[in-house]
Amino acid sequence: MKNYRTKIISNQEISPGYFRMKILAPDFGEKAHPGQFIMFRVQRSLPPLLRRPFGIFQTGSLPADCDGLPPKEFVEIVYKVVGSGTSIMAELHEGDRVELLGPLGNGFDYTSCEGEKILVGGGIGLVPLYMLAGELIAKGCSVRLLMGGRTRDDILAVTEFERLGVETYISTDDGSLGEGGLVTQVLERKLQEYPDAEVFTCGPMPMLSVVHDICTDYKVPLQVSLEESMACGVGACLGCVVKGAGHTEENPSYLCSCKVGPVFKSQYLDWAALGQNDDSCGGCA
Ligand SMILES: Cc1cc2nc3c(=O)[nH]c(=O)nc-3n(C[C@H](O)[C@H](O)[C@H](O)COP(=O)(O)OP(=O)(O)OC[C@H]3O[C@@H](n4cnc5c(N)ncnc54)[C@H](O)[C@@H]3O)c2cc1C
Ligand code: FES
Repeated sequence: MKNYRTKIISNQEISPGYFRMKILAPDFGEKAHPGQFIMFRVQRSLPPLLRRPFGIFQTGSLPADCDGLPPKEFVEIVYKVVGSGTSIMAELHEGDRVELLGPLGNGFDYTSCEGEKILVGGGIGLVPLYMLAGELIAKGCSVRLLMGGRTRDDILAVTEFERLGVETYISTDDGSLGEGGLVTQVLERKLQEYPDAEVFTCGPMPMLSVVHDICTDYKVPLQVSLEESMACGVGACLGCVVKGAGHTEENPSYLCSCKVGPVFKSQYLDWAALGQNDDSCGGCA
């Protein structure tokens, strides 16, 4: 993990309210693992003081300039404008100075290529799945991506996933792109087709909860990337704790989402408690 005082290479709106930002980050790519995240801060402004967490979409390097300077290594994030921090980010341009801390958290576990790999991304939840898909394809795994969104505007980076060699399935709640209905219905069909699959998911909590229920019913392993609100991102503030499976008041189990996660094997989480605010944390595991 390193703190980069750096600058923006590009920041483009790719769908209404969604942006892709490339940030100069030498040596970042060799340390980053799919599913990890960064904490991002705009240097020039005071408010908002807190850093904001964003998943790593990809890392790479731009070709060397004609002037003989080395290639520019970058990390890329994809974000949705939802509040004060992301509104400020949307106004940034090439060359603006920013600060990022990362890579943070644990990331996905994908040692084996056995069985079909099914990735389920809801809206902006597809971000950490892109780097994962690339690594799985490079290992020779068969990868299917189920993308869900409210409308066509929420379906992002389809071409990029397809270029990797991923089989993609799109569903939107309003039927404006792909199949009409919920991405979880598509998941259920795919698990009937591929009962030996392994599932990886990221997205809004109600979707994650249904994905967990389906994978439990079909007895397939599931890894889930949580997007709990985070203040520090490094295990210091306890602002991101979630309850672990089997948590009781007598035997409390609290997991720091930013340190132990954000990716968890779904059976280790207390699904009944997820998404509910709780101030009773006694400390991170
Ligand atoms: C590990 C991790 C990875 C993430 N990756 C991405 C990503 O790749 N792309 C992306 O767009 N966003 C991602 N997020 C969410 C992102 O951090 C928030 O959207 C961002 O911090 C909002 O900042 P803001 O100042 O614009 O909004 P605020 O003004 O802080 O909040 C605006 C609204 O958004 C809600 N909100 C804030 N944070 C979250 C959250 N984590 N989950 C759900 N609702 C939230 C608030 O409750 C409020 O209603 C990630 C979060 C985590 C923890
Ligand atoms: S965000 Fe501070 S402990 Fe996790």
